[in-house]
Amino acid sequence: MEIAPGAFHLPRYLALDAQKALADSCRALMDGAVPAYVPTVRGGGKMHVRMLCLGRHWNGQTYRYEAVRTDFDGLPAPPLPDSFRDVAGAIAASVGTAFDPDLCILNYYDPTEGRMGLHQDKDESPASLLAGLPVVSISIGDMARFLFGGTKRREPVTPILLESGDAFVFGGPARLRFHGVSRIVPHTAPAELGLTGRFNLTFRQY
Ligand code: SIN
Ligand code: MN
Repeated sequence: MEIAPGAFHLPRYLALDAQKALADSCRALMDGAVPAYVPTVRGGGKMHVRMLCLGRHWNGQTYRYEAVRTDFDGLPAPPLPDSFRDVAGAIAASVGTAFDPDLCILNYYDPTEGRMGLHQDKDESPASLLAGLPVVSISIGDMARFLFGGTKRREPVTPILLESGDAFVFGGPARLRFHGVSRIVPHTAPAELGLTGRFNLTFRQY
């Protein structure tokens, strides 16, 4: 389960009923009053996901967190649902980490177009990063080829298949390791979810 110091892969952490409830919540949020959008990042490229930030908004132009989406429509980030916070806290606790997340980045990956380049998650507060507070990730829907590297971009990456219901945690010495998603494997979601593509939720404590 601990694939590297501070990094944990928890296959099928969520049972199917919990996956279904989460998929339904994600769909409703993404198409809600503050909808998901495709961010344009610094340099002008478009991301290959639809994103909705809960609790705090991550601005793809400034790489900073803010209350309202100044890089898009000025709307406030919807609150982080308590049920989401609870499941992320329980995942962290299951690998021995105390964690009280205050934000979640919810991404939808299209089954053929969805991907995310190699990057570090390093836009949280210096205190959070210094403490090695984890990123807790939950995958729902189609399988993803997740790449997990080292703390330098040039270091080799290990591909890990993340399936629906899997949790992945990287904190402590693993907190600043590079990671990304090279592809989605279409038609691999449990049929009961009625989901084409993949939701990924990453929880952090700012
Ligand atoms: C991310 O790094 O923000 C997303 C990772 C994933 O989709 O598994
Ligand atoms: Mn990330």
